[in-house]
Amino acid sequence: MDLFAKCRKFNAQVKVVKSLNQFFYLREIDPPATPTVTMGGKKMIMLGSNNYLGLANHPKVIEAAIKAVKKFGTGACSSRILTGTTSLHNKLERELARFKGTEDAVVFSTGFMTMMGTITALTEEGDVILSDEFNHASIVEGCRLSRAQVKVYKHNDMKSLEEMLSECKRSANKLIVTDGVFSMKGSVANLPEIKSLADKYKAKIMVDDAHGTGALGATGRGILEHFDMEGAIDLVCGTFSKTLSSAGGFTGASSEVVSFLRLQSRPFIFSASSPPSVAATVMACLEVIEEEPELLERLHKNTEFMKQGLKDLGFEVEETITPIIPVLIGNDRKAFKLTGGLEKEGVFINPVVYPAVPKGSALIRVSIMASLSTDELQTALDKFKLVGKKLRII
Ligand SMILES: Cc1ncc(COP(=O)(O)O)c(C=O)c1O
Repeated sequence: MDLFAKCRKFNAQVKVVKSLNQFFYLREIDPPATPTVTMGGKKMIMLGSNNYLGLANHPKVIEAAIKAVKKFGTGACSSRILTGTTSLHNKLERELARFKGTEDAVVFSTGFMTMMGTITALTEEGDVILSDEFNHASIVEGCRLSRAQVKVYKHNDMKSLEEMLSECKRSANKLIVTDGVFSMKGSVANLPEIKSLADKYKAKIMVDDAHGTGALGATGRGILEHFDMEGAIDLVCGTFSKTLSSAGGFTGASSEVVSFLRLQSRPFIFSASSPPSVAATVMACLEVIEEEPELLERLHKNTEFMKQGLKDLGFEVEETITPIIPVLIGNDRKAFKLTGGLEKEGVFINPVVYPAVPKGSALIRVSIMASLSTDELQTALDKFKLVGKKLRII
């Protein structure tokens, strides 16, 4: 038996996919999150980034990161519990708690570790986790690693969630976990109803506001602000890898829970603290979100412009209030052809195919940034028209 035989088999499959021009991963993009990027020496309009407010390239944010590197060095070179906690990390945790309306917050080095490390620290054998079927992989992994019983309810389906809650032992600790904004389809969790069910069945709630933070709510505070539910949810998590323009994540909760996570969550304890410049970057992003509300307005305008434009061209666009616009294609091959065709025409998009979505429900995930100009969006729409017609999608 050869341990690496599966690698050879897998790589051979990837080679076939590449030969069919259906491989759209690991593309080299410099810089990655500007409205126009360079890929293979070619200029492309970027419709695939999660840099929703354009803050990764905001002068104030860049300046804050540079200043922190000069003062604190490039890395903390330790885990948070040993020598990796700086004044910037502590300040960021206080700022995030204020921004999200929680008592306290703890910062992890990635969003993935945040979800995984929060779920595994809080749940144990005998507990029940109720998880939306479309939750992000970091939540799925946390559920797998916890020793709790995991019940997966149908996507955003409150009947399915209630059925599962009613099957749980009354005495069992229950945690309902949901993405706030679902990353592939841009759907928004029905938090008000989840909250009523949680109250009825005495369950706690964890929401992953990765894509909502900075993009939802009147002032960009995320899904809780959107539903006017600040303070009503037990665990409010998020990542720095979208609007907050860096890498890392956080869990906001009561002081009691956050203090516990700081000393009991294994990904927090046994992995290096994020570089201090990450904390400075995220704090600068929070400041800009508060000081420049016009960026959120611009994001909404751009999203509406693109959504309406795609609909007018005849594309099937699923309804969404987020900057993630799902364009339904259906067939995986067509989704790949549209992606390849647009790539040739200088437009970067991401195809989403099985198993990320059910078979036959392939889509194009168009994501919008505030920093895209109307000209860039119009050029992208013209290319969608050209390639969409050629492939007889519209
Ligand atoms: C909903 C959601 N949760 C968690 C994560 C993981 O975050 P990160 O990429 O910052 O590790 C992502 C990122 O893809 C996400 O979309």
